[in-house]
Amino acid sequence: MRVRSVHGGSFARVTPGAPEQSWLYLKASGGSTTASCSAAECNLQVMPPVGEVTLSAAELDTLRSWIAAGAPAPTTRAR
Ligand code: HEM
Repeated sequence: MRVRSVHGGSFARVTPGAPEQSWLYLKASGGSTTASCSAAECNLQVMPPVGEVTLSAAELDTLRSWIAAGAPAPTTRAR
């Protein structure tokens, strides 16, 4: 969390509470193609790398909601 992206300029991979500031979400949703990442190291290509957004709207919504909720870690089941 808040780990800086390698090829997303100043974007962190996940910014808890802010999907639009999360390179993970931007790459999966296609938002990276228009993101303000103009440094030489920026790779705006959509993920998975097939040239177009392939995750379903439901999958993207799940990812977005998880980040919006603060990207909580999975809870450990009580024994
Ligand atoms: C739902 C599936 C996937 C998601 C959400 C995803 C997400 C990402 C993200 C966020 C980055 C940027 C990392 C960074 O800049 O710090 C990245 C980079 C990369 N991904 Fe994926 N990825 C997916 C699937 C795949 C698949 C299937 C492949 C290869 C077959 C792949 C190959 C790569 C490679 C080579 C990079 C390095 C290029 C770069 O740094 O921009 N990814 N991926």
